[in-house]
Amino acid sequence: MIPFIDVVAQRRRLGGAIDAAVARVLGHCQFMLGPEVKAFEAELAAFCGAKHVVTCASGTDALVLALRAKGIGPGDAVICPSFTFCATAEVVALVGATPVFVDVDAATFNIDAKGIAGAVAVAKRAGLTPKAVIPVDLFGLAADHVAIADAANGEDLFILDDAAQGFGATFNNRRLGTFGHATATSFFPAKPLGCYGDGGAVITDDGDLAEIMRSLRMHGQGSDRYDNVRIGLASRLDTIQAAILTEKLKIFPDEIAARDRVARRYSEALSDVVTTPSVPAGMSSVWAQYTIRVSDNRRDALAVALKAEGIPTAIYYPIPLHRQQAYKHYPVGEGGVAVSDRLAGEVISLPMHAYLDEPTQDRIIAAVRRALVP
Ligand SMILES: Cc1ncc(COP(=O)(O)O)c(C=O)c1O
Repeated sequence: MIPFIDVVAQRRRLGGAIDAAVARVLGHCQFMLGPEVKAFEAELAAFCGAKHVVTCASGTDALVLALRAKGIGPGDAVICPSFTFCATAEVVALVGATPVFVDVDAATFNIDAKGIAGAVAVAKRAGLTPKAVIPVDLFGLAADHVAIADAANGEDLFILDDAAQGFGATFNNRRLGTFGHATATSFFPAKPLGCYGDGGAVITDDGDLAEIMRSLRMHGQGSDRYDNVRIGLASRLDTIQAAILTEKLKIFPDEIAARDRVARRYSEALSDVVTTPSVPAGMSSVWAQYTIRVSDNRRDALAVALKAEGIPTAIYYPIPLHRQQAYKHYPVGEGGVAVSDRLAGEVISLPMHAYLDEPTQDRIIAAVRRALVP
């Protein structure tokens, strides 16, 4: 079976450097918030051009830390797309607030900023206070952060960018991490910048917000660990993971370029048979997924045909959040979520990683064409 995401190939490339980095941590034994964590936070901030990075235990916690730091909770509404990974809305419910779902754009899969005003209206009618919007840079592609800022600023919403899949991508030549008021990312191993376990970070230019999040990730500590000034959580990035990420960050730009080459080859070879992903001018993608759309109920047959040839596929996401058992009682914005419903029935993702060589990719392309071209 061809790997869907080849973490082994990257491990081969970085093996010695990562082993040495982990050995250094094993040498000094500062496993929590050791020097590598601080160093990695500074490197990540420099990489994306932001002022502050607060690492934590996962991408989910990164979102929670930002919402908690803003004091968002019961009675508040947070607007988010329905077509996303569940964590985007899960964190809203976890802090006691109410997610209000809006639709996405069919071409980019990202939040349709035109839906934000209608979601604010629905929230207000339900007696909720609209406080924030969580755009998602889905599948690695930067969302339309200018349109989102325009819509959100008019409503005085806190913008928390969920860049768990898109970190490393750019919008108007600026890396994600500098849009909105805060950006959350995930270092889950399968992510474009992943570690060897769970990990995450919040990125912001707001020093006060960063300070509160540093306190929150350490049980709400004040002047020291046994001074508790707020209710927090235990959410740190392990020092070993920070050491691993520092090595991975060094090759991240090279890997992003390689992913982009793979994506371009897919699009050139497949755009006449399926709807290939579009990357609007001024935006870039880190291709967390290469997701095509296959209409007329041919998707499942395509997955079966590819599997028979040893080619894995995945469907992100088969059920939009507004239809999930855990989320279906939450409100939907005025514009509805028809595009999310349609995409859930059409999307299918092909193997994508920086180490997908051309002969293997050609096998995948040929198999897709064989399955779809009569
Ligand atoms: C869009 C999105 N948001 C949030 C998360 C949560 O990240 P983590 O798995 O590190 O908690 C993910 C991870 O899969 C994601 O894809």
